Amino acid sequence: MSKKNILVTGGAGFIGSHTCVELLTAGYNVIAVDDLSNSSAQAIERVRQIAQMELEAGRVAEVVRAQGLGKLMFHQVNILDRVALDQVFSQQPVDAVIHFAGFKAVGESVEKPLEYYHNNLTGTFTLCDVMREHGCRTIVFSSSATVYGDPDCVPLTEVAQKKNATNPYGWTKWMIEQVLTDLYTADDRWNVALLRYFNPIGAHPSGLIGEDPKGIPNNLVPYVAQVAVGRLDHVRVFGSDYPTPDGTGVRDYIHVVDLARGHVAALQWMEGRSGVEVINLGTGTGSSVLDVIHAFERACGRALPYVMMPRRAGDIAENYADPTKARTLLGWEAEYDLDQMCRDSWNWQSHNPNGYED
Ligand code: UD1
Repeated sequence: MSKKNILVTGGAGFIGSHTCVELLTAGYNVIAVDDLSNSSAQAIERVRQIAQMELEAGRVAEVVRAQGLGKLMFHQVNILDRVALDQVFSQQPVDAVIHFAGFKAVGESVEKPLEYYHNNLTGTFTLCDVMREHGCRTIVFSSSATVYGDPDCVPLTEVAQKKNATNPYGWTKWMIEQVLTDLYTADDRWNVALLRYFNPIGAHPSGLIGEDPKGIPNNLVPYVAQVAVGRLDHVRVFGSDYPTPDGTGVRDYIHVVDLARGHVAALQWMEGRSGVEVINLGTGTGSSVLDVIHAFERACGRALPYVMMPRRAGDIAENYADPTKARTLLGWEAEYDLDQMCRDSWNWQSHNPNGYED
């Protein structure tokens, strides 16, 4: 049986690169598309390397053992470039798209709303239009728990109301969910999964790929990792007066490898169907900022300095998933715990202190 071709936009990015690995080891061909504006072509080479290592270690699907790894193709293309994207789709049939490409810095999105709306929304419109022209109507979208806003109660199930986003980045996720839902309403051949991620952290256990933010990180774990490696002085804990057990913000951190496997599970479940399905990808466990700092201390083997600061604007107290739907529908469940996530983040950061730069 021939392998299915999956096109991954943002395939060189943090979640994209880990998903490419899981697709290859599950028996898919991968067409990675990325403009490399916030990622490195090195990530693609390392994906190739990891997939080969996994094959040699026997940690691959039956079909891969029998037939070998699928192809990994890479195109440096911006999804706003309709002509270039059309050429990529013309080179082979595309069975499904996993759509990660987009700007993702919350603070920057407040400064540059037009750039964020243009890039994330118009990029998605262009992608979907090209897909439609090539008869591909299966798409997995990289959404976010940010669409739940400040939740009325936790854990969050998929039926929780969508609330106002607090920044343009969040609105682009919110709006793209609506656009993809409307596509299905207009043409019921569309097959859409809206995967709402909680807080993806960690790195591939090989230490070859991981998160490589440009400049000073906005998110907690990349920041803690740079403190651990000596690039930054101390962790700033945003808020110690939240109504949570230790007063700091609580989030549902999920290992990026688990998250990547959730995408493969979604694709497998979507086969032969159509519709729109919203699915949370989280662990169901909430951890505080201090829990994360302490887990990272255990991982790197030293105390990490931190300073309590006022709350960060737009942050909420507590947010974690009810992951029941993903388990019952997709048969997928997160396997790694916070200690493992921090070990793998540290392994990546300590072996690549400057990310992909070296
Ligand atoms: C953030 C975004 C969210 C996005 C997600 C992507 C905001 C308000 N939300 O989620 O829309 O989908 O990233 O990964 O930015 N913290 C510190 N010190 C730091 C950084 C963070 O104490 O230097 C705290 C925060 O207050 C929060 C927790 O750590 O309680 C996690 O923060 P972060 O990693 O930025 O993720 P979110 O804010 O949950």
